[in-house]
Amino acid sequence: MSNLPRHIAIIMDGNGRWAEAQGKSRTFGHERGAESVRAITTHCAKHSDIERLTLYAFSTENWKRPKIEVEFLMKLLERYLKSERSTYLEGNIRFEPIGDLSIFSKSLRNVIDDVQTATMGCNGLTQCLALNYGGRDEIVRAANTLRNKGEITVESLSAQLDCSHDVDLLIRTGGDHRLSNFLLWQAAYAELFFTKTLWPEFTTDELETIIKKFKTVERRFGGLN
Ligand code: IPE
Ligand code: IPE
Ligand code: MG
Repeated sequence: MSNLPRHIAIIMDGNGRWAEAQGKSRTFGHERGAESVRAITTHCAKHSDIERLTLYAFSTENWKRPKIEVEFLMKLLERYLKSERSTYLEGNIRFEPIGDLSIFSKSLRNVIDDVQTATMGCNGLTQCLALNYGGRDEIVRAANTLRNKGEITVESLSAQLDCSHDVDLLIRTGGDHRLSNFLLWQAAYAELFFTKTLWPEFTTDELETIIKKFKTVERRFGGLN
């Protein structure tokens, strides 16, 4: 039996380097990165094995970047969600955010809310965007909600997380081999794939090649096969 990539998670890295390599500003890379998000999401929505696609769009650490880049990313996110609203609906794609959204502007929160509510009835792919997301922050927020409610168990903590779905396949583009605080709990038994391809150049063909390899891996989950 081959593995099914039910939940794919991607650390979309390398936008800035991609743009700088051609003498353009980092923001140009983010703009092109958003096009990859659309292409990969639309592709996954047509894939019957894939139920959930979680994309790392902005980390709790990304606030350390220059103000101008952070502001650009916030505007890009708002623009992306507004313009893609119809793509979600036409593709039967449900949109879900994870992360601490409380810090975002009212207008961005409204757009996030609007697309989430509008796509609530979609039952194809769930596209989950990790926004102001950090694995540690997510676990701490969940633990704080559960404190004073008796003993915390693996099940109760998992259910309290922003995302309670284990990752099957985790991909990082951009050449680095680290998790950068992404889905620390949910990736406990994920298969990890790293590619040097920079996110704006990541294609559906490369995704298919990775899925093909993933399907042949023996996943033992600590047992013996
Ligand atoms: C990933 O690309 C996108 C975000 C973190 C928002 P980067 O912006 O990290 O691009 P590089 O890694 O500097 O090339
Ligand atoms: C991870 O990329 C975060 C996102 C893709 C949103 P970074 O570029 O922020 O990660 P580091 O700094 O290389 O670890
Ligand atoms: Mg990076």
